[in-house]
Amino acid sequence: MKIKFLTAVFALILLAGCTQKPKEEQLPEMIDRALNVSVQHALKMAEKLAVQDSVLPRSFANGELVLSDSRWWCSGFFPGVLWYTYEYSNDAKLLEYAKLFTARVEREKYTTDNHDVGFMLYCSFGNGLRLTGDTLYPEVLLTGAKSLSTRYKPQVGLIKSWDSNPDKWQYPVIIDNMMNLELMIWATKTSSDSTFSEIAFSHADKTIENHYRPDNSCWHVVSYDTITGVPHVKQTHQGFSDESAWSRGQAWGLYGYVMMYRETGSASYFEQAQKVAQFLMNHPNMPADGIPYWDFNAPGIPNEPRDASAAAIMASALIELSGFTQGDESKQILAFAEKQLRTLSSPQYLANPGENGDFILMHSTGSKPHNSEVDVALTYADYYFVEALLRLKKLQGIK
Ligand code: GLY
Repeated sequence: MKIKFLTAVFALILLAGCTQKPKEEQLPEMIDRALNVSVQHALKMAEKLAVQDSVLPRSFANGELVLSDSRWWCSGFFPGVLWYTYEYSNDAKLLEYAKLFTARVEREKYTTDNHDVGFMLYCSFGNGLRLTGDTLYPEVLLTGAKSLSTRYKPQVGLIKSWDSNPDKWQYPVIIDNMMNLELMIWATKTSSDSTFSEIAFSHADKTIENHYRPDNSCWHVVSYDTITGVPHVKQTHQGFSDESAWSRGQAWGLYGYVMMYRETGSASYFEQAQKVAQFLMNHPNMPADGIPYWDFNAPGIPNEPRDASAAAIMASALIELSGFTQGDESKQILAFAEKQLRTLSSPQYLANPGENGDFILMHSTGSKPHNSEVDVALTYADYYFVEALLRLKKLQGIK
């Protein structure tokens, strides 16, 4: 009888042990683990590409490393990853590589045929200037801002994104373009020429007016009539449909308005960021782990590819927004970003060193409608992931 009783008690203890949830990794440990993995990937990638002239990493798809030259819109992200991982580790080799790969993007300061100058230069030279104060970098950034300004027409009040498809779009502006405004704000702060920031304010104001829908989602492409300055068409390019919510576009918009609020203190940018954040966090198609499908209205959900890049951009923006908000709202926003970073730092998304073509994250989606870069590693996912980890580390005051 006694033996039976003891066996039952023992079995119960064993069962309780098995059903107990594994202890969640503490946040500081998780951040350091993910950043250390990122450092290893960045070093390996830099080491293998340093010996090839002019190349920059773009993606890793179907077991193949895809490279680009500086013309590709993503050219500034890997230099940015190197700056961020150097900032974290203080590794002299990373500093050397960051300078080398940043220099590869310099000629883009003359780019006037698309809007991506901000991405290319601010992630590379912008971070380099912030961390080293290199006296040669401001000229590159300022020349880039001047080049970007050439794409602004006062009668429309926005920076034109693309020159392509003139039959379809007179003056296309994509939501991604919000990301280029930080360079313009920097240019005014440096040069005291207000033209740059006036362009940025006008662009951001008109984007609130014309890109956003009543539910706080946004269109991808809004094309303006060049004579009247009003939109003549609202469409998608990389989303599922014209009326759908393309995930990375929503994340660009969120990040853009958080950044604009930081730089200006304007209530309208703050409110826009808050509204977009709520749209995203509460969307019924947002998966429980916080990594969006490539489009919130993709028809095959839940059997659709995820987009880790959208999650990383969103997490980085939310962490900053949590610092601007108060009370429960701030806690909700930070908790959501932490959840996203925990998922991205899990083996499901974070690649082991030596794998994934030396990119940090797996499972991003470039452009599903074009069947391009679907479920692959992408350089911008890595950039915003490392940025988000560093922002979280700073916010938490973790040494
Ligand atoms: N700016 C292009 C993209 O987000 O795919």
